[in-house]
Amino acid sequence: MTHYEELQNKLNSAPKTWLITGVAGFIGSNLLEQLLKLNQTVVGLDNFATGHPHNLEEVKAQISHAQWQRFSFIEGDIRNLKDCQQACEGVNYILHQAALGSVPRSINDPITTDGTNIGGFLNMLVAARDAGVASFTYAASSSTYGDHPALPKVEENIGKPLSPYAVTKYVNELYADVFAKTYGFNTIGLRYFNVFGKRQDPNGAYAAVIPKWTASLIQGEEVFINGDGTTSRDFCFIENAVQANLLAATADDAARNQVYNVAVGDRTSLNELFDTISEHLNRNGVSYSKQPVYRDFRPGDVKHSQADVSKAKELLRYEPEFNISEGIEKAMPWYIEFLS
Ligand SMILES: NC(=O)c1ccc[n+]([C@@H]2O[C@H](COP(=O)([O-])OP(=O)(O)OC[C@H]3O[C@@H](n4cnc5c(N)ncnc54)[C@H](O)[C@@H]3O)[C@@H](O)[C@H]2O)c1
Repeated sequence: MTHYEELQNKLNSAPKTWLITGVAGFIGSNLLEQLLKLNQTVVGLDNFATGHPHNLEEVKAQISHAQWQRFSFIEGDIRNLKDCQQACEGVNYILHQAALGSVPRSINDPITTDGTNIGGFLNMLVAARDAGVASFTYAASSSTYGDHPALPKVEENIGKPLSPYAVTKYVNELYADVFAKTYGFNTIGLRYFNVFGKRQDPNGAYAAVIPKWTASLIQGEEVFINGDGTTSRDFCFIENAVQANLLAATADDAARNQVYNVAVGDRTSLNELFDTISEHLNRNGVSYSKQPVYRDFRPGDVKHSQADVSKAKELLRYEPEFNISEGIEKAMPWYIEFLS
């Protein structure tokens, strides 16, 4: 039995109370589904800025009535300290996911991104510290590596941020470290690398590449590649990210006040990604005959990204279960049902 399987059994037999901020979003709703399946009690906080009530409805459809009864939802804003305090009451573990994602969004509107990602983060830290929670795990980002050229990315070696979004995620890490030093409040930051899977929003100007392209391929629309297609990423299937969160929330003290890469340790170019999605769709009966259209590189984007995940493996006992191809195959039924 893996360490993660053991942990799931342990949680099942001694359930805890969790708070997920950003619960109506992509990662938050997947965390919710997994925790409710493990019979945990979950409080969710979201203001539906980019998340959707239909994500919560989808989770409800995946679990039993009794499991759904263990979920309570607060429609609130992390920029409001009172909402954060209310959400933290009586909670053991916090998984803080609420933020405004997307590099281009932050370039277009740095003030709103800053208010949510920094001001909201600070509110959550204060509320969590004052509530005396057992652990606080937060969504950090691979964008913190900025212009550092080394590959694979190792947690200790970061460069300068390339976008307002990257600044906000780096400031989260700085605040987390200062809270450990000044208040003894030890947190864990998970630097996600391009997470993908069911319920990731395919719509809007700031959609992530995998749901956006998959929707275009299914609907027979043009697919645009920013740059020459050699840009590469370490795409991480959602179930790996869920595993990392549960391991981090329950990790022992030695693993705290740290940040960890959460990815697979692979690198896939955009050209390869296009081929992989096309192949999987084809195997599932969806064919696409057009070629992708190449256009300019996007400002603020890092050219290459690949994680060294050995720190998470060693200290959190993280073992990513799915590579990109396995993740896309697993998400295929959802893509075909919801992106058609
Ligand atoms: N998806 C990725 O590849 C990726 C990569 C790196 C980091 N992250 C981080 O992971 C977290 C979750 O990302 P996601 O992909 O699920 O995005 P998402 O947009 O689907 O989810 C974010 C959720 O936070 C909520 N939210 C935003 N502002 C809020 C506010 N002021 N108050 C309360 N709720 C608010 C949104 O409504 C949404 O439901 C974010 O912190 C993001 O920066 C994601």
